[in-house]
Formats: sequence, C-alpha cells, structure tokens
Amino acid sequence: MNYNIALLKGDGIGPEIVDGAVAVLEKIGERFGHTFNFTPYLIGGCAIDATGEPLPEETVKGCLASDSVLLGAVGGPKWDTLPGNQRPEKALLGIRSALGLYTNLRPAKLYSALNAECPLRPDIVEKGIDLVMVRELTGGIYFGERGRRDGKYGPEAYDTECYSVMEIERIARVACETAQKRGKKVISIDKANVLESSRLWREVVHKVAENYPDVEVTDMLVDNAAMQLVKNPSQFDVVVTSNMFGDILSDEASQITGSIGLLPSASLGDTKCGMYEPIHGSAPDIAGQNKANPIATILSAAMMLRYSFDLEEEAKAIEKAVDEVLKSGYRTGDILGASKETPLTCTEMTEKILEKI
Ligand code: IPM
Ligand code: MG
Repeated sequence: MNYNIALLKGDGIGPEIVDGAVAVLEKIGERFGHTFNFTPYLIGGCAIDATGEPLPEETVKGCLASDSVLLGAVGGPKWDTLPGNQRPEKALLGIRSALGLYTNLRPAKLYSALNAECPLRPDIVEKGIDLVMVRELTGGIYFGERGRRDGKYGPEAYDTECYSVMEIERIARVACETAQKRGKKVISIDKANVLESSRLWREVVHKVAENYPDVEVTDMLVDNAAMQLVKNPSQFDVVVTSNMFGDILSDEASQITGSIGLLPSASLGDTKCGMYEPIHGSAPDIAGQNKANPIATILSAAMMLRYSFDLEEEAKAIEKAVDEVLKSGYRTGDILGASKETPLTCTEMTEKILEKI
C-alpha cells in the first residue's frame, strides 16, 4: 500500500528524532512492501521564523490532506517571550484542534531491561508498570475562555476549565474500548471534590460505562492519582482524564518507566488520520547534538502503523526491535543510569533498531 505522511519536524531535537522515525518507517516499507511518501511542513518556532506565524495555513491543509501526521516537537527559548497566541505551543494546540484529535493515547510501560532506570522501590518495580493514559486533547482549560481583566486585587488573569457532555462522552467511550482490549479496568481521574466540571465528568463517565458492563470503571481524585502512580502503579490499566491532568500525569508516568525519551503518543479523532508524536518536548539544551533518544518517536511511528493504517504486524515489528535493542543493553544518554559507558547517539540508536527490523 501507499501512504502519505505529513512530517512536522518542528524545533529543537524535533528534526533529529523525526529523521530516526522516518528511517524506521522506510525500513518497514522495504520489509513489508509498503510505500510511505513524506511531505514536510513547518510548525512552531521554525514556522514563526520562516513565515511569521506558528501554524501556517499550508501546514493545516497539508495535514488534512495526508493519511497521517508525524510530529517531532515545538518550542524553544528563542520564542519564549512571544505573546501567548503567537507561541510555538499555540500551533500544537491549533493542529490538534484543526484535525479534530480529541483523544491522546499515551502508553507507559516499564521495559524489564530498564528496571534499573525506575526510581521506585524494587518491590514496586517487580509488580510491573503497564498503563495507557487516555488524555482528552481538544477541550478543558487548554481551550477554555481566557483573558486578563481588572479584578478585586487589581489586574488579574484567568483560564477556564469547561467540558461539555459530548466531549466527556466521546473520550469515555475511547477509554472503555481501550480497556476492552487490555485489562478491562478504567480509572477516571478528576477533582470532583472541588470542581463542577469534574462532577459532570464523573457523572457522564459512569453513564457511558453502563454500555460496557465488561469494563470496571472507578474514580480517583487527581491528587491521590499523583500519589498512587508512585506508590502502586501496577493498579493502573487504562486511565482517562482531562487535558491538563493528562498532561501532568503522563510526565509522571514517563519518569516511573525510566525516561520521557521513551514514551510515544497517538492523537486520534473520528477519522483514520491521526497525529503521532513523542510526549516529550523539544529539549533545546541538547538540540543539534545528535544526543536525543529517538525511541519515543520511533514508537510513535509504530502507533501510526497500528491506528491509522491498521498495520498491526508492522507496528509489532518496530516494538519488538526496540525491545530487543534495550535488552541487548544499548542506551542513549537519558537511560544510561549509573553506567560509565559512552551513550549511543540518536543516529546510532536508530541504526541499532533498524538492524533488528
Ligand atoms: C504535551 C506538551 C504540550 C501539552 C505542550 C508543548 C503544549 O506538554 O504534549 O504533553 O501541554 O499538551
Ligand atoms: Mg506535556
């Protein structure tokens, strides 16, 4: 088959890690007889530099016309002082919203080869960590009404958390369906003891859950969830939560599984065209030095094969290659632990994965 992929390399380490994932996709194409056509588009800081805006119209059109999108990362200190609506991050929210990608799947699993990278106690590590965070991606406080105004104590700023029944229903369905294919357990995370939007969230999640009698759906307050993730992470199978709680908790999940350099994500909507990106950022401190870990992006490409193209065998081939490379002891700098060995570069790690495919 022939697939058209929009490439949004973005800023910082974005280009290096996307190059790694492209090499892996090309290898998969060779082995399984597919053709992947890649078309690059600008997004984030590099788009600001070239066109004056973080999300050019051409990028949105190109992504909408493609079969799926592979994204590196956006942002960096150079653009940090721009007003909120002109920042690179605004482009990321803009493209998620333009493509209708309301679901963000963030699997976090601890590879046994990386047990030593887990900062938790050995008895906790022993029980394993294998969860999927289902993060709502186009609503909540990221997209709610915001602004500045004069308040009781003078000038103030506000952002609003708002969720409609429809938005909660559709993400709850995704969570239940994800759980049906896994451990059949959903933990819905909210702050229903304080927030009205969370109380609606809880209500709607349980209404939706009635249609999935084979799935156990329970609630957890977000402060407790932050604690449970480090105390007893093996209790989590599928987690469903709002945009902001999901952002925060997925970074926490990445640390207990070794490194943020390992975690992929899939942003999905109602069509097959999804956007795939590592959960980490543009890491400006190591940009252009060939030091970044390409694994999160390579695993994101595997998710693309699975969710956008229904190429399960091909997706598994990538995941198996990553697993084998880690088992063989190959490490980039972020997962080197106490070892005194020289870490692999981004391109060397990519090479090792290519060898196993
Ligand atoms: C993420 C990132 C983004 C988010 C930023 C860069 C806007 O942190 O994908 O987790 O908050 O969604
Ligand atoms: Mg984040």
